[in-house]
Amino acid sequence: MSDSETPEEEVRADSPAASETAVTDGPAEASEESRRGLLIQGITAVLSFLLVAVPSTLAGIFYLDPILRKKKGGGDEEGDGGDEFDGFIQLPVTLDALPEDGQPVSVTVKDTLDDAWNRFRDVPVGSVWLRRLPENNIIAFNSICPHLGCSVNYRSGENDFFCPCHTSSFDLDGNKTNEVPPRDMDSLEIKLGPDNQSLWLRYRNFRGATADKIEL
Ligand code: FES
Repeated sequence: MSDSETPEEEVRADSPAASETAVTDGPAEASEESRRGLLIQGITAVLSFLLVAVPSTLAGIFYLDPILRKKKGGGDEEGDGGDEFDGFIQLPVTLDALPEDGQPVSVTVKDTLDDAWNRFRDVPVGSVWLRRLPENNIIAFNSICPHLGCSVNYRSGENDFFCPCHTSSFDLDGNKTNEVPPRDMDSLEIKLGPDNQSLWLRYRNFRGATADKIEL
């Protein structure tokens, strides 16, 4: 390159073409800045949304948890006994604890209770009278008197069930034997577990002072 070419190039840099290039760079930079601005706005909007939405969603789930939590009506909520035992409570006694002669045995029923956000295990919820009949047929009665709600006892001398509050009496099959109670004792569904020893009960309470067995 000769020395004489340098001024010519400088002139070219100042030429209308160079000027045109400078003019076209202006809008390009502005457009780039605009895109950057939009991107920052978008990111800010997304972050702002997440900052509000995530805590709100978590708070909503926490607040609604007692409502959303799956209810199985007490009993085998862990599914230990399989679907067949959903709603059944495993009793703290086994078949061997029941006399083969059918003598009644009183058993306290304990269940898991949910109170809003708390879960309480092994809470006594009632008691039942159990009898073992031939061929390991088990019968269960709610011990609450169907008259007005006292506890029904077993009288070994009379070999019957008796409520001391107003003298309701029942035979060992739960049939009422005087006119005080409005109905027979309330039988409950019970069955043997897969091991043929554990006892599983569907515990229910019923309205008192009525001839019909109305579940509460
Ligand atoms: S409550 Fe049992 S006889 Fe009245």
